[in-house]
Amino acid sequence: MLGSAPWRLRAWGGLAGGTLLTALWILWLVGWVPGGPPAPQPLVTILIWHWPFTDRPPELPGDTCTRYGVDRCLLSTNRSLLASADAVVFHHRELETRRAHLPLAGRPPGQPWVWASMESPSHTHGLRRLRGIFNWVLSYRRDSDIFVPYGRLEPHTGPTPPRPPKSGMAAWVVSNFQERQRRARLYRQLAPHLRVDVFGRASGRPLCASCLLPTVARYRFYLSFENSQHRDYITEKLWRNALAAGSVPVVLGPPRATYEAFVPPEAFIHVDDFGSARELAAFLTGMNESRYGRFFAWRDTLRVRLLGDWRERFCAICALYPRLPRGQVYEDLEGWFRA
Ligand SMILES: *[C@@H]1O[C@H](CO)[C@@H](O)[C@H](O)[C@H]1NC(C)=O
Ligand SMILES: *[C@@H]1O[C@H](CO)[C@@H](O)[C@H](O)[C@H]1NC(C)=O
Repeated sequence: MLGSAPWRLRAWGGLAGGTLLTALWILWLVGWVPGGPPAPQPLVTILIWHWPFTDRPPELPGDTCTRYGVDRCLLSTNRSLLASADAVVFHHRELETRRAHLPLAGRPPGQPWVWASMESPSHTHGLRRLRGIFNWVLSYRRDSDIFVPYGRLEPHTGPTPPRPPKSGMAAWVVSNFQERQRRARLYRQLAPHLRVDVFGRASGRPLCASCLLPTVARYRFYLSFENSQHRDYITEKLWRNALAAGSVPVVLGPPRATYEAFVPPEAFIHVDDFGSARELAAFLTGMNESRYGRFFAWRDTLRVRLLGDWRERFCAICALYPRLPRGQVYEDLEGWFRA
């Protein structure tokens, strides 16, 4: 039903355009194209050299990418395909730890190689020895050849999901607490002025995977503090732990303008907007219900889609494949990634 409206608009446009155009348009509708039917799109084979973070890759049936809306795309971890794959993906962590090695001797001339990583530069090492090897980058950086954010907002219609009832002020889940991190320093400054309930391994209050969302949903605010501050580095700490849970994110990460490229300006609170931790705490604790409710306005028309699945990320290579730059080489991958 909903899909039929634009269709009808197009029909009116076609009929208004004159008899010949209308005739061509009808032929186009029934699939006739001058010069015969379009050639079927070739199958693109993507070899994943080592599956990210595991020696046991998921099953990859032939329709894996179809499930993500990408046709004619085959993902495989079968290394016998090195000679024939249309592109080969190398996930950085296994190169860094030398669990996986680059098959340089077996690389067919001109075969595109993809460097893939979702970690920030602070947690990425060993890039210097990867000079002049990779043609494309798959990462959360917006200027990646294959840009794969940790999540996005998508249009949605229908009833607005109910706002979870709130019983706590602010929650934070942290598994790796290090005093030198900016997020740790900010937490220390906030704590005297704001009740923050800390969960996760670092606090001795770990949450089971399925407990995290219902737990943080009970809090008005969630501290979406990235472990390091880097260009475009916005992770599931925003998308999942706060926005999907129904808690208002207080973000520490890249500048406000970067967040606004992903979510409406009124959907989050940016720590940089405050002169001190005390001011931030005062803003959070003094907020009335009508002001608080405005942070949820986006949920009338948008919903969160989490993009955490490596299969979906790799399928994105196929979707972009015809348009990816040929002949490009990252001569200085480290310089690019640290910029
Ligand atoms: C890997 O691919 C080769 C060549 O296509 C094929 O002969 C072999 O059976 C495959 N191995 C597995 C485990 O699927
Ligand atoms: C709630 O807070 C906002 C912003 O601080 C303020 O403009 C508004 O007047 C307040 N509303 C009520 C009902 O107090």
